[in-house]
Amino acid sequence: MKRSVLALLPVSLIVMAAGCSSTPEGEQTVKSPDGQVVVNFNLTKSGQPEYSMVYKGDTIVRPSTMGFRLKEGKNLTDGFRLVSVTTEDADEVWKPVWGENDSIRNRYNSMTVALEQGDRKMNIEFRLFDNGMGFRYIFPEQKTKEFDITEEDSKMAMGGDYTAWWIPGDYDTQEYEYTKSKLSEIRSYSTKEQMANVSQNVFSPTGVQTSLMLKTDNGKYLNIHEAALVNYPAMHLNLNDTTMTFTSWLTPGIGDVKAVVKTPFSTPWRTVTVGDKATDILASNLIYNLNEPCALDDTSWIKPVKYMGVWWEMITGKSNWSYTDAENFDLATFDYSAAKPHGNHGANNENVKRYIDFAAANGFDQLLIEGWNVGWEDWFGKQKDYVFDFVTPYPDFDIKALNDYAHSKGIKLMMHHETSGAVENYEKHMDAAYDLMNKYGYNAVKSGYVGNFLPKGEHHYSQWAVNHYLNAVKKAADKHIMVNAHEAVRPTGLARTYPNLIGNESAMGTEYQNMSPAHVTILPFTRLQGGPMDFTPGIFEMDLSKVNPNNKEHKRATIANQLALYVTMYSPLQMAADLPENYAKKMDAFQFIKDVPVDWSETKYIDAEPGEFIVAARREKNKPNWFVGGVTNAEGRDFSLRLDFLTPGKTYKATIYADAENAHYDTNPAAYKITTRDVTATDVLDLHMAPGGGFAISLIQK
Ligand code: NOJ
Ligand code: CA
Repeated sequence: MKRSVLALLPVSLIVMAAGCSSTPEGEQTVKSPDGQVVVNFNLTKSGQPEYSMVYKGDTIVRPSTMGFRLKEGKNLTDGFRLVSVTTEDADEVWKPVWGENDSIRNRYNSMTVALEQGDRKMNIEFRLFDNGMGFRYIFPEQKTKEFDITEEDSKMAMGGDYTAWWIPGDYDTQEYEYTKSKLSEIRSYSTKEQMANVSQNVFSPTGVQTSLMLKTDNGKYLNIHEAALVNYPAMHLNLNDTTMTFTSWLTPGIGDVKAVVKTPFSTPWRTVTVGDKATDILASNLIYNLNEPCALDDTSWIKPVKYMGVWWEMITGKSNWSYTDAENFDLATFDYSAAKPHGNHGANNENVKRYIDFAAANGFDQLLIEGWNVGWEDWFGKQKDYVFDFVTPYPDFDIKALNDYAHSKGIKLMMHHETSGAVENYEKHMDAAYDLMNKYGYNAVKSGYVGNFLPKGEHHYSQWAVNHYLNAVKKAADKHIMVNAHEAVRPTGLARTYPNLIGNESAMGTEYQNMSPAHVTILPFTRLQGGPMDFTPGIFEMDLSKVNPNNKEHKRATIANQLALYVTMYSPLQMAADLPENYAKKMDAFQFIKDVPVDWSETKYIDAEPGEFIVAARREKNKPNWFVGGVTNAEGRDFSLRLDFLTPGKTYKATIYADAENAHYDTNPAAYKITTRDVTATDVLDLHMAPGGGFAISLIQK
């Protein structure tokens, strides 16, 4: 794949000061373009690389050492000498294929320190932005052809006992609710049942995952993550809660080498985003800016998607993914034509057509169908060869006729590939599976990696697994297929380089039916920092026993809150997750889901606090219309929304979808009221959000 000339040329205004190189002595300093973020680098007496970071005079990261432990030979932790220092600055504007804004400025100053330990070479590059910094290790071509890394030793010594919104370090899942605590309190929470329940591979009582959201005692907001995770294990952070120092903790694969690095090689970036306001973190493009430009020649086939799915009825247990109740099932020998169906298979022709009709009539782009393919009789936790083949439909799913029917109504079907974590089996079948998609006109796949482990004891976030996910995305790009991978590694901005990666899950989404209302006020500060999430909002019937009498769960959100998520949780891939019959009962509220765009020219985060509330406004791509969403945690709150982001002098028709006075996520979730009025940029809307509630507003220019 070649780098796109198109993606680089028309908009990029790159001003690169000629790189300046010097023979250095003592401490080296690099500052952000506005001078407010400062990184100092030096070698300690024993030749250990060490850096610190200051933002607006506050020490964010105290002096922290860097390096690697190796399986063989001297560790790359000390004994270095500084050979040269190179500085550079850049200022460019690039246009994402899809996004929250139609153009993104990438302005930074960089400093690369070239280090040597004997005849081994290791460089460290720092990039300083006005809102944070990233650093990465670069191994130039050298006599040593391969470094076998047993652990990365990047420290981040925090400037204080910050407040954190965190999930525990785990090699195989991010599907947790967040805990808010002081760093010093993480240990005390980590024994709680809530974590033990979900986790398979929690590695330390003070280990956490990134993206990690933090707040300092004097009210600065920080976020620690990584960017451009390629051919390397995902990084966790392990806290020394006496010194408040994080140390990188890579996800292991098989054996004691966590990362095999063949020179030349660059690691992912280790990032710290900073801001005075919580909204600064939400508006940050630091992670995308640290990723490589678009690698695809042609991106014209990549389109944001609004979709429905034959999905929620299986999640809630109303129907089933499988076709039979077969026992002692073996896909290789099982004869479906002779099998007795259990009669509750969701993805049957008639039911799928019903969804196609509803989705097409309401302007959706696609319909996801899960359980269309053979193998669901025995899949969970199965690493066996041939758990699924991804090409054989169930007897009651006519793949050709259903695709033809959908296409005749102007929508596409969305493919589903649940791998059961059997990655090797998926790789074997991937070409044929993608070819089948091309044959029938599918252009998007939701893939999934359910399972506590991957084959041979590999983990979901190991170097091997990380390589698999990206290869699947690259191979899909060659066949013009968009990918939305669930249970894959959490995103690190790679969608800039491969914009056919239109979604990931990698966090607790709607499939967990009763998360705390605070969850959606935290995700944009954490999980969404690296890229969009297929959160699947839009549940209208919160009492799930109404969908399936055996389901005693209750969603903890109001309908207005569910509408707001289409704005507050940015994604180019948005699902209307509930059943057609539940929408049909409330078509007035459903109108917002029909109207809300999935691609934007401009975004303004109006106000927010992690774990409490988020209010965001976005302008539809190449249109004058704005959409606003507000969500709150379990506390109700009032919000005065100034409409000063609208174009002065223009009138807009505002449709306001708000919680009714007596709405409550638990006791009265369906109480909403819809009002319309004309507004201008000078208006202020006084809005009320119920506990677990929110508001959604469309502003259509007249
Ligand atoms: C977990 C995914 O997150 C969910 O969306 C999907 O329905 C199931 N796996 C089955 O593939
Ligand atoms: Ca999942």
